[in-house]
Amino acid sequence: MSDARPIGFFDSGLGGLTVLRAIRQRFPDENLLYLGDTARLPYGTKSPDTIRRYTAQNVKSLISHDVKAIVIACNSASTALLAENKTSSTPFGANIPIYNVIEPGAEAALARSASKRIGVLGTRATVGSNAYVHAIREREPQSEIFQIPAPLLVPLVEEGWETDPLTNLIVYRYVAPLMAQKIDTLILGCTHYPALYDSIQRVTGNAVELVDSANAIADLLNADLISGRIAARGKANGNLALLATDVSPIMNSTAKRLMADPELLDFKAYDIV
Ligand code: DGL
Repeated sequence: MSDARPIGFFDSGLGGLTVLRAIRQRFPDENLLYLGDTARLPYGTKSPDTIRRYTAQNVKSLISHDVKAIVIACNSASTALLAENKTSSTPFGANIPIYNVIEPGAEAALARSASKRIGVLGTRATVGSNAYVHAIREREPQSEIFQIPAPLLVPLVEEGWETDPLTNLIVYRYVAPLMAQKIDTLILGCTHYPALYDSIQRVTGNAVELVDSANAIADLLNADLISGRIAARGKANGNLALLATDVSPIMNSTAKRLMADPELLDFKAYDIV
């Protein structure tokens, strides 16, 4: 049976568009709904309790739009889901599938790393939660993981400074200590960071694999659409709706760039329920 309800996504801001883009490319028939909580960005500098509360509210908001599944396209908010999963089979009261971006990212990194010396660049919240360390060690106990919080990178992306020379300097400052640890794989542990892929790869060189969760999440969704855990929509052109808790002119142009879609419709203002 087909199901035309949208797949819902949320992030604190625009970073989750890097995940949405991959999903939209892979599943052009699906209706997609994206919520950016821009009024409360950033999440990555906030306490676990606050991130949990925001995450619960975003999940509730998406459920009120009758989504059939939710992708938490934010690593910081994904840490709240992983904590919630330990005590509840219906996290945040949701009885639809909810995906985090941390476990697929950890698995993708392990698949690509030969030395199992893995770097993680993330927000303070993500690094502080050790969610990647746990996800990787549960799967490969001998791995060595080196984490660096990189809080300045999120505002640079939201500002549209992905190619600014100053951004390159800041990226260098964060990534160089990880290179000193002789990592062979670097997890871009924040959905904003794939926007800085070129800048980061310039510092690491091509010998280090950069991993983001977008394709890994797309693989998981694909498997669940095939198995029927989520019903597919069937053949039709999917539509995309973009909501944000604060809408500014610059975010609409940054969104078009991140989605590589000059025709992308503007965000509509939305109040969290
Ligand atoms: N994009 C978010 C993440 O993946 C965080 C940005 C922020 O709100 O700090 O963690």
